[in-house]
Amino acid sequence: MNVVPPGNDLEILLTRESIARRVSELGTQISADYRGRPVRLIGILKGAWMFLADLVRCLDLDVTVDFLSFTSYGEGTESSGTVKITKDLDQPIAGLDVLVVEDILDTGRTFEYLLGVLEAHKPRSLKVVTLLDKPSRRVRSVKADYVGFTIPDVFVVGYGLDCAHQYRNLADIRTIRGCKP
Ligand code: PRP
Repeated sequence: MNVVPPGNDLEILLTRESIARRVSELGTQISADYRGRPVRLIGILKGAWMFLADLVRCLDLDVTVDFLSFTSYGEGTESSGTVKITKDLDQPIAGLDVLVVEDILDTGRTFEYLLGVLEAHKPRSLKVVTLLDKPSRRVRSVKADYVGFTIPDVFVVGYGLDCAHQYRNLADIRTIRGCKP
């Protein structure tokens, strides 16, 4: 059996402390913007699960949570260009204020596709918060409403983000080279 090294020697891009501070700031900002209105968070699996778990505890709002799962990358580092829904919403969102929670906005292909899917459900409003944004990689003209960190064109793992399904459990966000299936 192949054992993958735990990843603690990979270079740190964002420390757990800086992530916690920024998530708390995002929570404060989002709580102020949605004050007095219920909000439905939609987490995009799998990468966003850890960010959502921390963000939701920083929201001083009436919050409900649902999840959607897409695949776009397969197991490599390059977007395949095709996006497929693998888990749909459990609850309707018509007439609701919806906030999509993403871990990373990269080429924008997933984002463009999911906005089209969710808009068809007629929410009252639709916004997106992404922990990480890599604008240099964009091939679709999309923008998140809330961004945790803008990062350069490096492949990152940890805090929910993976390389071939590994390293999601790392508490810091780290860079990795040569990520291959
Ligand atoms: C990642 C990430 C976004 C998408 C962004 O998901 O969670 O959904 O890629 O890439 P794009 O802007 O180039 O479309 P991934 O397909 O790696 O799945 P995972 O979250 O399950 O790891």
